[in-house]
Amino acid sequence: MRIVLGISGGIAAYKAVEVCRRLVDAGHHVTPVMTEAARRFVGPATLSALASAPVPEGLWTGETGGVPIPHTRLGRDADLIVVAPATADLLARYAAGMADDLLTATLLATRAPVVVCPAMHTEMWEHPAVRDNLDVLRRRGVRVIEPEAGRLAGGDVGTGRMAEPTTIVARVVGLGDLAGRHVVVSAGGTREAIDPVRVLTNRSSGKQGHALAEAALLRGARVTLVTAAALGAPHGVDVVRVESAAQMARAMTAAAAGADVVVMAAAVADFRPKAPADDKLHEVPELVLERTPDILAALAARRRPGQVLVGFAAETADALERGRAKLARKGVDLLVVNDVSAPGAGFDHDTNEVTILDTGGGATVVPLRSKREVADAVFDEVVARLRKDT
Ligand code: CTP
Repeated sequence: MRIVLGISGGIAAYKAVEVCRRLVDAGHHVTPVMTEAARRFVGPATLSALASAPVPEGLWTGETGGVPIPHTRLGRDADLIVVAPATADLLARYAAGMADDLLTATLLATRAPVVVCPAMHTEMWEHPAVRDNLDVLRRRGVRVIEPEAGRLAGGDVGTGRMAEPTTIVARVVGLGDLAGRHVVVSAGGTREAIDPVRVLTNRSSGKQGHALAEAALLRGARVTLVTAAALGAPHGVDVVRVESAAQMARAMTAAAAGADVVVMAAAVADFRPKAPADDKLHEVPELVLERTPDILAALAARRRPGQVLVGFAAETADALERGRAKLARKGVDLLVVNDVSAPGAGFDHDTNEVTILDTGGGATVVPLRSKREVADAVFDEVVARLRKDT
């Protein structure tokens, strides 16, 4: 992975050197980006020597003959950004969307997953301003590796000490618990043509499916995202854009053939117009509908040995009971049951609340979280199954 390691100005910056070294040792390409204040704690020369690329100077001067590095380049090229340490000041600037130095500009310009590792004194860590900023960032999908309790700068003791480099590296790259795996995810609500102008569709936004793709990527997988949603996809994901259930069926069948994990998060239209008109209709039509192919059932029927298959179920009543029946009927390993009538959950929200059912009768409840965190909870279950199988 191409990782940008952001370092802001706190005493824990010395630990960033260790984080950098360990990430490079794990085979990643690491570019350190330091704030002005960070340079007072560790020398850029130390990080440049250990990293895969030298520390860029900043927004206005660059490593190559004084040419400034475009403020968006690093963010665009990164697969992952880790900020360690993340000071209260850095978190505030990031939460506010400021871009007044190379690190914040990089954070703002990226579509890659971002992990922050806060480090500060206990009083600052507990201040509502810091809590609010972290809440904002979490809601936007930023992952937070919480500080630990221990000795702080100046001899104080309390919570606020940056997590240990080994913890950060293990958590950050998951550490690639899906590395070498091919994960296929479907997303969005399909659109079924009535005529060349109109479609039948549903309320799915595709956000949960896209969050799944991003989570799988962060955990090291090669990811194919078959999506009917008009959403951007994380850099590094192979995206196949589809519209109808029939197109999605074709794309999923092809992509799933060699996949280790298949997640059907899409809201496939159950019915479609039987005979869509070739030309725009001008009279009120009588729509005759027919069933769409059940993609998940087809994938279950032809799945390769060891492949983990995950279905989703959007329900509005008796969610768990219906979910259990659906798990068996569809022949999947895991079924993520989504009560779309619950507040803050389901269609178009940035948060979700689900229960993950498995074939052993287990049920993992994931309380209201960001869709990214829900995605990680799903992959925690998937990874446990992959380990059992291989
Ligand atoms: N699904 C599918 N193909 C379809 C319909 C649904 O692959 N034509 C998948 C969805 O992607 C989801 C799972 O099946 O992973 C369950 O979808 P859901 O709409 O909840 O269930 P249905 O099969 O439509 O069953 P019901 O209408 O009885 O709720």
